[in-house]
Amino acid sequence: MRQAQLNGTTLSYQDQGEGAPLLLVHGFPLDHSMWRHQIEYFSATHRVVAPDLRGFGASLLGHLGDREVSDEPAVTMRQYADDLASLLDTLGITGQVAFCGLSMGGYIGWQFWQAHGDRLRCLIQCDTRAAADTAEVARGRRMMAQQVIADGAESVARAMIPRLFAAETPTRQPDIVEQTWQVICATQPKSIAAAQRGMAERPDRRDQLADINVPTLLLCGEHDVISPPAEMREIARGIRHATFVQINGVGHMAPLEDPATTNQAIADFLAGH
Ligand code: MLT
Repeated sequence: MRQAQLNGTTLSYQDQGEGAPLLLVHGFPLDHSMWRHQIEYFSATHRVVAPDLRGFGASLLGHLGDREVSDEPAVTMRQYADDLASLLDTLGITGQVAFCGLSMGGYIGWQFWQAHGDRLRCLIQCDTRAAADTAEVARGRRMMAQQVIADGAESVARAMIPRLFAAETPTRQPDIVEQTWQVICATQPKSIAAAQRGMAERPDRRDQLADINVPTLLLCGEHDVISPPAEMREIARGIRHATFVQINGVGHMAPLEDPATTNQAIADFLAGH
């Protein structure tokens, strides 16, 4: 992993391969390792940049500006997206990138399109949502933020792991479930709390979908219970140049649960754009 100092923090990232840039943005509360199969596959043809978002993996939470002084520090989707733009600057990547995000990485993807759209060649949104949280879900996130500070990251792993994978995955692929458990448990509680608060206040994107004018791939696991296929199909209907692909037999973590099919879907899309 390499490191870059930017925006009051230190980000760790992988930067591998040559060619058109492909930025891989992980979900919550994970790190770049959820993309290990995509890093290996696409670095044969692309320059793949896979960061740990601030506070996750080997990246520091760093300074949060005016969001730090409150009792409830938050990292907004805007902050994560701005960090990614700064990372591209640091790496000298001035041309347009293919942005590929999963779930929270997708929430950041909508924000990246809004704030840094001139840097975007195409969007690949995996297992994500365009709607904002309901008041009840946002309240649940704020409660989880308090709970993780009190009880530690393992409480979050216990709550999330069953929702991340298809029901059969723990039996079929116990190693990926165990690795994901380890990643979550190694995450700083204050980073988990800050991300939860940031997600709770993210805007609803559904009214903006019609304005998205870059080619967009929506990719979703058949058994995803966090961002179900029906909801992602609806997002695809709202975007002018969108393609929807369902990955059968997997849950929210399609890139990890079925890397071969996921890689093929992304490669087909990238080849056309
Ligand atoms: C993720 O996978 O990034 C999270 O499930 C997103 C969320 O909590 O909404």
